[in-house]
Amino acid sequence: MAVKALTVLCIGDIFGEPGRRALVTFLPHLRSELQLDLVVANVENAAAGFGVTPQLARGFLDAGVDVMTSGNHIWDRKEILGYIVKENLLLRPANYPSGTPGVGSVVVKAGAHQVGVLNLQGRTFMASIDCPFAKADEELARLRTETSVIVVDMHAEATSEKQAMGWYLDGRVSVVVGTHSHVQTADERILPQGTAYLTDLGLTGPIDSVIGVEPELAIQRFRTGMPNRFEPAKGRARFQGAVIRIDPESGRALAIERIQRDLPA
Ligand SMILES: [Fe+2]
Repeated sequence: MAVKALTVLCIGDIFGEPGRRALVTFLPHLRSELQLDLVVANVENAAAGFGVTPQLARGFLDAGVDVMTSGNHIWDRKEILGYIVKENLLLRPANYPSGTPGVGSVVVKAGAHQVGVLNLQGRTFMASIDCPFAKADEELARLRTETSVIVVDMHAEATSEKQAMGWYLDGRVSVVVGTHSHVQTADERILPQGTAYLTDLGLTGPIDSVIGVEPELAIQRFRTGMPNRFEPAKGRARFQGAVIRIDPESGRALAIERIQRDLPA
């Protein structure tokens, strides 16, 4: 009999209180409806759009998230420093320079199997940290000795850099999904060597917003060029991500499907 597929849900950037509300509303249902074995969520915008606090991170684990990924906003809340060095279920991008607090990958149990989760960050229109491609090679050399099922969150601004990472890792990991741009793309596919790919998972946050932010504030900043305080938009919230089914023996992805659920105001 064929081995049962491993089912992974990757959740797009959880933004502020609306995102947290959508997560706690939908995740318990999705866990049973889709028979999820592993849930990975990007949480770097959970604290009013900027970073994540230890309290929020603990809440995500309690709500059914198994591994939390992040990106450029991970350092926004100073109190996370003490947490990230102790809790390896909260990742920061692996290609931050060596000596940066926290880790960029982890191997966890998912049902009867082991799954590696790797967090990377792009460098195009972003801070010039270490090369994510070279770092991916380094991390995979280690992770692949433990498991062939590996999920990559590529946190990047440029579509091209995320696509390049998908092709670079095709056949070496099960999943490459992008985060950071907060708009879900419709390009989900299985690449030729068996890696599931999606350029951006989207936003788990306020619908009536500019990538999560109150539209008036974003418009004001674009029009004047002056700094102002960004706040999460209020009202209707949306849950976005993707479900990937993986052959746990080969690590090859079998299917990828985008998910979207809306909460009324
Ligand atoms: Fe980001």
